[in-house]
Amino acid sequence: MASIAGGILSPLTSLFSFGDKGYLAIDIGSNSIKVLEVKGKGKGLRIINAGIAPLSSDAIQDNVVRSPALVAEAIRTLIEDQGLKATNVLTVVPGPAVIIKRANFPAQDQKDLRETILFEAGNFIPESLDNVNLDYQVLDTGSQNNTIDVLLVAVRKDLISSYTSAIEEAGLIPVVADVDYFALENMFETNYSPDPEETIALINIGAHYSLVNVMKGNRSAFTGDVQFGGKHFTDMVAEALSLSEEEAEDAKINGVLEGYNSQDIERIVTTASDHLLDEIQHTLSFFGTGTADEQITAVYLSGGTAQLPSLASMISQRLSVPVEVSDPFRNLRVSGQHEEFIRSHAASFAISAGLATRRPGDR
Ligand SMILES: Nc1ncnc2c1ncn2[C@@H]1O[C@H](COP(=O)(O)OP(=O)(O)OP(=O)(O)O)[C@@H](O)[C@H]1O
Ligand SMILES: [Mg+2]
Repeated sequence: MASIAGGILSPLTSLFSFGDKGYLAIDIGSNSIKVLEVKGKGKGLRIINAGIAPLSSDAIQDNVVRSPALVAEAIRTLIEDQGLKATNVLTVVPGPAVIIKRANFPAQDQKDLRETILFEAGNFIPESLDNVNLDYQVLDTGSQNNTIDVLLVAVRKDLISSYTSAIEEAGLIPVVADVDYFALENMFETNYSPDPEETIALINIGAHYSLVNVMKGNRSAFTGDVQFGGKHFTDMVAEALSLSEEEAEDAKINGVLEGYNSQDIERIVTTASDHLLDEIQHTLSFFGTGTADEQITAVYLSGGTAQLPSLASMISQRLSVPVEVSDPFRNLRVSGQHEEFIRSHAASFAISAGLATRRPGDR
């Protein structure tokens, strides 16, 4: 599994791994909370319930939960409305708020590597190690002579606790916290059996930011973020047509709004998409050296904004590669009365679906 080691809550995890009361995979975004209820694991994993709840714009700002009470209230509403039963929670923190560094160490066994990383991490992480939870992922054990490439991940404790305290305030128990970049990787690995020779880009377009994760086979080769997402599309529509945020959201999603010319709406959405694409291209320009084995050959989109009908084809034209909207449930069993809802919002559930495969204590 390509996830980040035991997860950044790993010290707690072994306490919660007995029985199968199921889990809630909760992706707390700035625009909405996405939850999947799951049972079983591996090939027996089933998605049994789901929900999406809007979140007030005061709840999360600058990638930190500013109002745990608002987040807890939205989670409680989801639990009641959907009849969610599980209480153990798998969650994510936003990639842009996380420190991710690539490092190279002499070849050594797993136990020694852990010690080495703990000893050396201070040289890579620009933050007091007392204030962060540290984790790592081995990327490659043989690319250069006798060395190990490692992805170091440090997450500020106050950032994690802003998310976990909101979950606790909703009466739930956080047992795994991952980073959205790696949940996205898991989603891809679970559903698309990556070709080890192929380089592809996962692009998740949310409300405030978009994630780019370039994968070589099932390993992350590059991560970057773009501070532009669906909210900025809505703002541009609102400003250009002098609409309220709600009206603009409606116009953006449906492409029409009574009393307005749909070509005007389309033109603004295209301008916003162009801006997003400029930013994505700029971020991708930091990846690799442009050699043949680093050419991106496909893009998999996800996130709420990936549902904009014109976006995939615009990205495909701009980057000259095939682009598809990911199906996070391609290889997962979805059962129960919520199946239609889940499948029709599949792109929004990409990160929660990646999380749903995580279990406490796994590496
Ligand atoms: N059908 C749709 N068509 C176009 N855009 C949509 C659609 N459904 C939702 N969106 C947009 O997707 C965005 C929300 O996506 P998502 O749920 O991935 O974001 P988030 O996780 O809440 O935010 P972030 O990750 O940026 O903090 C909103 O801007 C919303 O307008
Ligand atoms: Mg999000």
